[in-house]
Amino acid sequence: MRILSGIQPSGKLHLGNYFGMMRPAIELQEQGEALYFIADLHALTTVRDPAALRNYTRELAIDFLACGLDPARACFFRQSDVPAVTELAWILSTVTPMGLLERCHSYKDKTARGLAASHGLFAYPVLMAADILLYDSDLVPVGRDQKQHLEVTRDLAIKVNELYGDVFKLPEPSIRADTALVPGLDGAKMSKSYGNTIEIFEEEKVLKKKIMGIKTDSTPVEEPKPTEDSAILGLYKLMAGEGDYAAMVEAFRAGGTGYGDFKKALFAATWEYFAPMRARRAELLADPGQVDEVLRAGAEKANALAGPVMARVRRAVGLA
Ligand code: TYM
Repeated sequence: MRILSGIQPSGKLHLGNYFGMMRPAIELQEQGEALYFIADLHALTTVRDPAALRNYTRELAIDFLACGLDPARACFFRQSDVPAVTELAWILSTVTPMGLLERCHSYKDKTARGLAASHGLFAYPVLMAADILLYDSDLVPVGRDQKQHLEVTRDLAIKVNELYGDVFKLPEPSIRADTALVPGLDGAKMSKSYGNTIEIFEEEKVLKKKIMGIKTDSTPVEEPKPTEDSAILGLYKLMAGEGDYAAMVEAFRAGGTGYGDFKKALFAATWEYFAPMRARRAELLADPGQVDEVLRAGAEKANALAGPVMARVRRAVGLA
């Protein structure tokens, strides 16, 4: 089984990325041939500062390794190090109906929030389909927000197979119900573009301040607190032990504890949960050559895997 996923270097790693994609991806690396990449070509649709893009890319590589990506098991590379992906994206774009892309929520959301409606933003799902199909991927671990992009990928694969014979494997998304949508500071989906993120490798003080800033209602301390749709509980569940989580739910229901105390407990759980990753990250930061070497070897392997698939595609469509 081939497992593949990507993450954009368009900001710092946040809890949504970690629980929605990274942790499942890291677990899956034990179960098949895993390929994980940094989607720097996708990030170009929103990051305009070259120095920032380089920094985000490097930090994300370090963070993914710190979180447990094992380069001995998974092939880890930068999207732009495999040039065939843009060639495949072009070929796919020639069979992509405009209407299919016009229906994509992510494009509509981004332009509604004021991002310029560039062709790259519009064609984003086609490049993502190329990422997936280029490596004959079977399984793609992602958060729920990427579900529609996986559907586009399957539609395009089916279209190519109808037109040109059996060219592509049909990939399946892997979306875990318990972490499909990690809430942000305001209770909505945690997202860089909503400005409601909690960054994992933030300084202690900054992290605490962020968590203390989670939006809550005005229920008085002594009253029971609503447990439904609580961002505090939603996040605590991800990082606290089962017993601690159950105790917090109980304390919400009982009343008598203020939101400030719940947030302090959430901060403590978050800080503790990521302690081993922080330690590993400090080691990686001290040895920059190691990360470069992992990405270099990853690129070599990814290009080798992409080669035969791309040759198959070129033959199928008549370019070879
Ligand atoms: P990106 O960088 O926006 O997000 C990376 C991963 O994090 C997940 N995620 C979340 N999951 C649960 N709750 C949240 N609040 C949350 N926020 C983010 C995303 O679902 C995603 O899995 N298009 C992709 C990158 C990509 C890709 C690919 C993924 C490019 N090519 C090929 C898979 C296969 C993206 O925007 O990721």
